[in-house]
Amino acid sequence: MHSITVEPCTFALFGALGDLALRKLFPALYQLDGAQLLHEDTRIIALAREPGSEQQHLAFIATELRRYVGDKDLDEAVVERFLARLTYLHVDFLKADDYLALAELAGSSQQVIAYFATPAAVYGAICENLAKVGLSENTRVVLEKPIGSDLESSRKVNDAVAQFFPENRTYRIDHYLGKETVQNLIALRFANSLFETQWNQNYISHVEITVAEKVGIEGRWGYFDKAGQLRDMIQNHLLQLLCLIAMDPPADLSADSIRDEKVKVLKALAPISPEGLTTQVVRGQYIAGHSEGKAVPGYLEEPNSNTQSDTETFVALRADIRNWRWAGVPFYLRTGKRMPQKLSQIVIHFKEPSHYIFAPEQRLQISNKLIIRLQPDEGISLRVMTKEQGLDKGMQLRSGPLQLNFSDTWRSARIPDAYERLLLEVMNGNQNLFVRKDEIEAAWTWCDQLIAGWKKSGDAPKPYAAGSWGPMSSIALITRDGRSWYGDI
Ligand code: BG6
Repeated sequence: MHSITVEPCTFALFGALGDLALRKLFPALYQLDGAQLLHEDTRIIALAREPGSEQQHLAFIATELRRYVGDKDLDEAVVERFLARLTYLHVDFLKADDYLALAELAGSSQQVIAYFATPAAVYGAICENLAKVGLSENTRVVLEKPIGSDLESSRKVNDAVAQFFPENRTYRIDHYLGKETVQNLIALRFANSLFETQWNQNYISHVEITVAEKVGIEGRWGYFDKAGQLRDMIQNHLLQLLCLIAMDPPADLSADSIRDEKVKVLKALAPISPEGLTTQVVRGQYIAGHSEGKAVPGYLEEPNSNTQSDTETFVALRADIRNWRWAGVPFYLRTGKRMPQKLSQIVIHFKEPSHYIFAPEQRLQISNKLIIRLQPDEGISLRVMTKEQGLDKGMQLRSGPLQLNFSDTWRSARIPDAYERLLLEVMNGNQNLFVRKDEIEAAWTWCDQLIAGWKKSGDAPKPYAAGSWGPMSSIALITRDGRSWYGDI
């Protein structure tokens, strides 16, 4: 069995009263504590700019922790142990003197992990001040997305951090890489010769990646409107998924071997031409509609919205990878807010058998499909063709699943949240699940040309009703190639 060693550390969480810290990071640290994966000497320092007493802020963090962990996973003994590790420090991120208390708490011997759950604009200043108080040698820094809003601004952030922290101590988060089924892509592809031998343009006709969310933008308008769905989701999560599906087998499991292969895929993405912008890419923005049977407002009617905004809340596109493995195999990517359900799924469509011998009317359903479900109901299903049973059925075909549903199969095991895995990896100094600088830059380079094309064309995003699967043109995008989005969705 794989045993995990846990080293003690000082975990300094910048932006500790923000939404991400309260909703995801404290609960993830709590779960690690519950699983005995935090060393008994590990301390957590919550740093934030908000005025108020330490006692008041710690009480607030404790309330939010209980809320977000939820009754089912709450163990008061663990909560007490966890809260005993916690200290609150009021910090103006831009003032070096404010970091002295942190340096004192960290001491000189322990590993420090500095997690930046703050706007990227202050990453450089935080790094500089950590260095000023002597906290650069023994420190790993963790950078949340978004890192910049284009290639140039992301370079600025990365360069500012790199002045004080080398790449091998810089951990860039893409939380999709911490999801259990996403990590399983590596096992699925490289531990099963069954798949790897078929994983190319000879056997695969096309690939679909869908990341749909039911929620709208509620409360996040200020951030989201400057970003849009391409920057918020495609530039990172969907391109990372595409890389894991498309990359060549790495030489080994080391972080750099995997990241080298991913960068090659990003660099091989074909730029989308101005004509391609109209046939290969669809931008959408949700208008009023229904979600779970309730009327919901459109994007431009959300509180604090700017009614003139042309920011997209939906993108569907066809990406092509220019290499031997994937020549002629489109990757259809689709992601949006206010879709009918929360669903992240990859579908690999295999080609038809080379010689077809069954009834012509059954031909359409003949190809095998490998469906990798990231959320909800994590699992993998392979659709295979068999014969209908019964004397009256002749050679009538049916497509049925060979199924591996993770929560049914390992019923007792809780599927950990992505952040639990990622925080554990940072504590263990393993960069496998983090994004290297050149990956981010290659992803931005590809997205920047799309954004520039949109700007030039001045086309407004296409409206779609909240609770639908996006603008009609996103269906045309794939039917134009003689295909359809998988399933009844
Ligand atoms: C974040 C985006 O990175 O991912 C959000 O900024 C999005 O807009 C979220 O809602 C989706 O993550 P998950 O894990 O819920 O699919």
